[in-house]
This record gives sequence, structure tokens and C-alpha cells, in this order.
Amino acid sequence: MAAVGSAVGLGNIWRFPYICGKYGGGAFLLVFLLFVFFIGMMLMMCEFVIGRRSRHATVQAYSTLAPHKRGWRMVGVLGIVTCFFILAQYWVISGWTLSYFFDAITGRLAQMGQDTEAIKDYFSTFSTSAARPVVCLAIFAVLTAVVILAGVQRGIEKVSKLLMPLLVVLLLVMCVRSLTLPGATKGLEYLFYPDFSKLTAEGVLAALGQALFSLSVGMGAMIVYGSYIPADSNLFRSSMWITASDTFIAILSGVAIFPAVFSCGLEPTGGAGLSFCVLPNVFNSMGTLAGIFFASIFFLLLAIAALTSAISILETLSAFLIDSGRLKRSSATVLVVCAEVMLAAVVSLGGGMWSHIHIAGQNFFNFTDRLNSIYLPPLCALGTVLFLGWVVPSNDVYDELSNHGTVKATFYPLFRFIIRYVAPLALIIIFVSTFFS
Ligand code: TRP
Repeated sequence: MAAVGSAVGLGNIWRFPYICGKYGGGAFLLVFLLFVFFIGMMLMMCEFVIGRRSRHATVQAYSTLAPHKRGWRMVGVLGIVTCFFILAQYWVISGWTLSYFFDAITGRLAQMGQDTEAIKDYFSTFSTSAARPVVCLAIFAVLTAVVILAGVQRGIEKVSKLLMPLLVVLLLVMCVRSLTLPGATKGLEYLFYPDFSKLTAEGVLAALGQALFSLSVGMGAMIVYGSYIPADSNLFRSSMWITASDTFIAILSGVAIFPAVFSCGLEPTGGAGLSFCVLPNVFNSMGTLAGIFFASIFFLLLAIAALTSAISILETLSAFLIDSGRLKRSSATVLVVCAEVMLAAVVSLGGGMWSHIHIAGQNFFNFTDRLNSIYLPPLCALGTVLFLGWVVPSNDVYDELSNHGTVKATFYPLFRFIIRYVAPLALIIIFVSTFFS
């Protein structure tokens, strides 16, 4: 359940629909599903095995399992770097969510009614302004840090166990509303009918990046979770459940958003603002009071889903520092948060005031997004599968997956074949092809 809470976050509700919309809908979804089950889920099993076998945090886990091949530690380091960049971007978007929650509850969103242009303008003015997004991300950062410092993870877990089902119910309500809008079938067709002519090489890489991001794999975070998993849990079954729930929620968000997009005469290709530009429209179509009510609940729950994910990314980073630098929990957390808030502020301003500053042809906001989805996780994922497929002895891996032979692991030959050959080859081909496309 904790891993589901970590996996389900902005990646499912904010990121999936806009990436899917950007790269062509149905065909993207199909490729995404293939990656989720054949690469993402296998990676989750790999990370769980590495974590549970070593009972250590990300970097230390690699040195524990391969004490004589210390170079593999670098895969863990790459994971930590990835987490660092991901949390910066995550806090920026979480800040937007927080700001929209206040706008919803104070009726500011409702005021705009179903004026599509006004809602769009409001979002672009807000997200490119300097002060408000940075203040919001700082508030969110403090919130995340307070939870970590107070050590109320149990409390948060209880809260998220209660609120996650509520989020699903709310998403279902939104699906019903979205599906009953005029012209809804066009949205469903877009999401589920695969038109391969729209799929590009970059789209395939984006699907891979999204699969890894959404499952929180390819950055060592699940190694930390793996190290907490009880010895008698079935790793295959757990991975299956986490993967299936995460995917289900992503698709649900697609069903809530696409029909509404088409019904409002919008295109889903506009990028990161999709949820923020379209959903207010859907809420406002429910009437003023109902609109305020649902919008407030939705953005609050989204902020909470983001918080549970952000906590686990921050935890991965501080755990690494505590283990390796002999820092206390409090100083490690404060250190990470300070550095992270600065990077997050740069990411936020990179989409607005500093959007003229380019790295590799992208402003800093988009550059971080590409780092987080296209470049870093696939590379770290490659290191992870190679490590478990070729470096750690097969017997050890089998032993861990079968709980020392007490549960059946009939899937093992397939798993091994995928992590030794299929996944590395796929990762290399996809990765190299982006550099030539
Ligand atoms: N999976 C999370 C989401 O969908 C985002 C995420 C990426 C994450 N990497 C992570 C969460 C590492 C926790 C730990 O929103």
C-alpha cells in the first residue's frame, strides 16, 4: 500500500494525460502499456530484490550485493541524482496544485465559468509569473520536510490509505461527468484508438520515460522500499498489484480528461498545463457551488497524492545522506530541502522569467522534464537490469524471488530472460535512437 501511495501521484493524473495527448493518444497508450508490464514491472521486481536482499538504501545496496565490484555503486548514485532532479520538478507542480486548491476554495476558478480562453490565460499568467509559484513550492517543500522531520510517516500512511480511495471515487465521478458531456466519444476514440501514424521515435521514448516515472522505478526509490518489505511477502505479486493499480489510475485520469478536452473544443497537445486548463472547465460545468466543491476536493486530493510521493523521494535522498555521510536525520533533511528548494525555484523560473535561457535548446523547466523522463531513468534502469541479470548470481536472485524456495516462482525463467536480454536491448535501442532522431 505504501508503494502504491508512492507510485500514484502527479505522474498519473497530471503527467500521463498530457504526455499521452502530446504523442498521439491510443498508439502511445499501447506502447506505454507494453513498457509498463514488460520493463517497468520487471524493474520494480529487480529493485525490490536488490533492496530486500541487501537491506540497505540505494547506493549502499549495490556495494553490499557486489562487494568486489564497487563500480556498480554508480548506478545507485545515478538514481540519487535522478531523484534530486525529479523532486525539484515535483515540488514545482505540487506548488501549482496547492495554488489551484486555494483558487478553487475561494471561488476564483469558479468565477471564470466555462470561458476556455480565460482559464487558459489564467494558467499561463500564473505559471510563468515569478513570485506565486515559487512561494507555493516553498510552502509545499516545508510541508514535505515537516512530515519527514516529525517522523509521522505512520500518520501520513493512514491518511493516504483513507484518501487514496477517495481520490479514485472522485476520479470516477469526474469520468462520469466527462463522459456525459457532448462529443465525449471523440475523446475516448483519441485515447483508445491506436493511430500509429502519429507515433514518433520520440513518442516511444516518452512512453518508456512515463512508464518508469509513473511506477517510480529507474531511480533507486523502490530499492529503499524493497529493503523494508517483510521476508515472507511475495515480490512478484506485490509488483503486479502496484503496477496494475498505478496503471488503472493513469487510464482513469485519461478517461476523465480527454472527453472533456474534446468536448470543450480544445486540443490535448498543449503540454504541461493540460489538467490545469481543462479540469476547471469541467468543474465549472457542474454549476457554481458544485464546481467549487469538486474543484476544491480534487486539487486538495491531488496535493495529498503529490505529498505522499514527494515524501518518499525526499526520504530516498535523506536516507542516502544519513547512510553515507554520517549526518543526523534532521541535518540531512534540512540540507537536502535547502538545496532542493533552490533547484526547484530555478526550474519554476525557467518556465517563466528565465525562459529565454536555454540548455540543449530547451528552457530549464522543459530541460528538467526531459532529464527526468527521457535521459536519466532509462540509463539508471539499464544499469539496474544489467546488475541483477549479469552481476548478482542467478541463485541469489531466484532465492530472493521465491522467498528461499517457499513460494513458487514459475515466472523466473521469463523474468531472467527479460532482464538479461530483452530489457537491456530495448533500453539501449530506444536510448540511442533518440540521439539520432
Ligand atoms: N511515481 C510518482 C508519480 O507517479 C513520481 C515519482 C517518480 C516518484 N519517481 C519517484 C515517487 C520516486 C516516489 C519515489 O507521481
